[in-house]
Amino acid sequence: MTTAQITVRRDAVVAPLNRRIFGSFVEHLGRCVYNGIYEPEHPTANEDGFRLDVVELVRELGSTTIRYPGGNFVSGFRWEDSVGPREKRPVRRDLAWHSLETNQVGVDEFARWLKLTGSELMMAVNLGTRGIEAALDLLEYCNHPSGTALSDQRIANGTPEPHDIRMWCLGNEMDGPWQTGYMTADDYGKLAARTAQAMKAADRGLELVVCGSSGSSMPTFGDWERTVLEHAYEHVDFISCHAYYQERRGDLDSYLASSLDMQYFIETVVSTADHVGNKLRSSKKIKLSFDEWNIWYLDEHRESDEVNDEWRYAPRQLEDVYSVADAVVLGNLLITLLANHDRVASASLAQLVNVIAPIMTEPGGDAWRQTTFFPFSVTSRLASGDVLRPRIDVPSYDTAAHGAAPLVDAIVTADDERSAVFLVNRSRTESITVTVDVSELAASRITEAVTLWDDDVYAKNTLEDQERVGLKTLEGASLDEGTLTVVLPPVSWSAVALAS
Ligand code: AHR
Repeated sequence: MTTAQITVRRDAVVAPLNRRIFGSFVEHLGRCVYNGIYEPEHPTANEDGFRLDVVELVRELGSTTIRYPGGNFVSGFRWEDSVGPREKRPVRRDLAWHSLETNQVGVDEFARWLKLTGSELMMAVNLGTRGIEAALDLLEYCNHPSGTALSDQRIANGTPEPHDIRMWCLGNEMDGPWQTGYMTADDYGKLAARTAQAMKAADRGLELVVCGSSGSSMPTFGDWERTVLEHAYEHVDFISCHAYYQERRGDLDSYLASSLDMQYFIETVVSTADHVGNKLRSSKKIKLSFDEWNIWYLDEHRESDEVNDEWRYAPRQLEDVYSVADAVVLGNLLITLLANHDRVASASLAQLVNVIAPIMTEPGGDAWRQTTFFPFSVTSRLASGDVLRPRIDVPSYDTAAHGAAPLVDAIVTADDERSAVFLVNRSRTESITVTVDVSELAASRITEAVTLWDDDVYAKNTLEDQERVGLKTLEGASLDEGTLTVVLPPVSWSAVALAS
């Protein structure tokens, strides 16, 4: 029987918890916006056309900062089309996803939707087909209080208060040949630096995210970050990371250890950014915005006919249905983001509704939780105070893709009154008994112990069976004189909350 010992020291602080780590992403793609968050004919729709049943699930998910409006979409986005009287807004072709954009949801409506969900807006500017001037105009429209052409236009459009958006992305995945207006690192680095300099001339307090690589398998990975930062280092605050994972060729062992790739990705970007910073003798440290991460069965979409020659409104695109194994991997990726929270200061689960999403909807019908909803919502709800790096003593197993992978991974959060332990068991076959030394934490009782696992690791929630998979009580969790003992089922994600 495999066992694991975890030791938690109160002073092993990675970083104080910044709730931006629980961000998400809404792109004008498929049915994320149209027939997702927005469906004016739906019985729960409000006066803006937003579904309130979806709003309720978003609140339960506990996502914080929401990136908008793309993604690849942003590289063709004309923000001016998306404001003002709805009946006058033009219908455009979205080249990124080959669909029709009606602009019925735009900057002002989305900002109102965020208020309903209690989230912060993280806006992306178009550096694909547009540039500095359009970015500055959008910034003025959104953030300037009043008395200028564009701020007065916003007020005339019905939004008297500025949106006061703090985080801005300087384009999206500009290294990707699929991106409208993609560039070399040198060209993008120069444009990003100039755009950032101009935006900060308007507001020194903005937090700007420069595009890093679209994935660690990009041929330019590493060099891209170095070149871009050599141009933009002093003007920006974050560099972005994007990573999607999927089970390939039935290799569940490797898939369950996907977070090792995320760890490699983070370490490479941190060391590259620090190399540039040191070379420039800068006192500043660049933070990472992991603003696209998730499970995405991309190989299947590439082979499908979802993106075809028709120009359709709200087509069903990227509607992955997630399994228990997918949820365990997602929970583990979130553990890895927290374990690197000293540098990964912001992250966005991509995406939020219908498109590779934790929440699914049917037009005129229900909204429901995918399996991946659960580890995200529980972590967001229970995490508080400081993120603590535990010491984990556990055997490893072999994987074809990542080499040796520890069978158990975990992260801990704690404040003065409560703490939480989040754990995964990557073993396909064995339950693992884990003892956790929590004697240095405010932990005299267990307030909650839940797990996500199933006899069928490929079980899913679907339209027909929306509650097939859910959280279960983690049976047998016990606390005795500062030692928490749990038995983690095979292929499971679990959370235990403790209080003083
Ligand atoms: O999240 C889906 C897409 O993935 C985004 O539009 C793009 O940025 C990435 O390639």
